[in-house]
Amino acid sequence: MAARPPQRAGWTRRDVFNWVLNIVMGLIALIVAIPVIGALLTPAFAKSAEQWVKLGKASALQQASLAAGSHGVGGVAKTSYTYTAVDHWAKTLVSDYTYTRYIGGDCPFFILSPICTHLGCHVDWVPAENQFHCPCHGSVYTIDGLNVSGPAPLPLGVFRWKLVNGDVYIAIESTQTHAAPRARGGPATPCLKQA
Ligand code: FES
Repeated sequence: MAARPPQRAGWTRRDVFNWVLNIVMGLIALIVAIPVIGALLTPAFAKSAEQWVKLGKASALQQASLAAGSHGVGGVAKTSYTYTAVDHWAKTLVSDYTYTRYIGGDCPFFILSPICTHLGCHVDWVPAENQFHCPCHGSVYTIDGLNVSGPAPLPLGVFRWKLVNGDVYIAIESTQTHAAPRARGGPATPCLKQA
């Protein structure tokens, strides 16, 4: 008859100590891991905050527009801007421009996106025709950005903007939000100045 292995007669004090030690170590690891996991996952689920980007001094924008126009009426001036786009963990330096026009009154700037609403090319301002032309498929927009011919389905987007200590800031994500209402017969130059 084969010999049986020696049976353990219950838990020793060392077994209990190791068991308690493992539980305590596990709890410590959990306490340390929760904030780390939270910090890693938060950007993935956080709703991105609205991003305001400085376009320039209001006085300089006004001057540039008046210089592009005539007889004290503001013309269309190309205004460049740069900002860091944050998409979850990725950061990208973006450079683009707006078509800014000084129109006076309580809402003195009308700031158009240059992005064609057909397939996203940048439109060109053609002063001789007082229109924007898209070089890709020929869409044409009025000075107010309303689409008048070609395949573009919507007017050019308009930036929401605000004045802070003499500087004009634009809300980067705002343009598409306002393209659709303009297509439904709203004012050609809606006031999108934010208090
Ligand atoms: S992208 Fe402008 S007309 Fe097609």
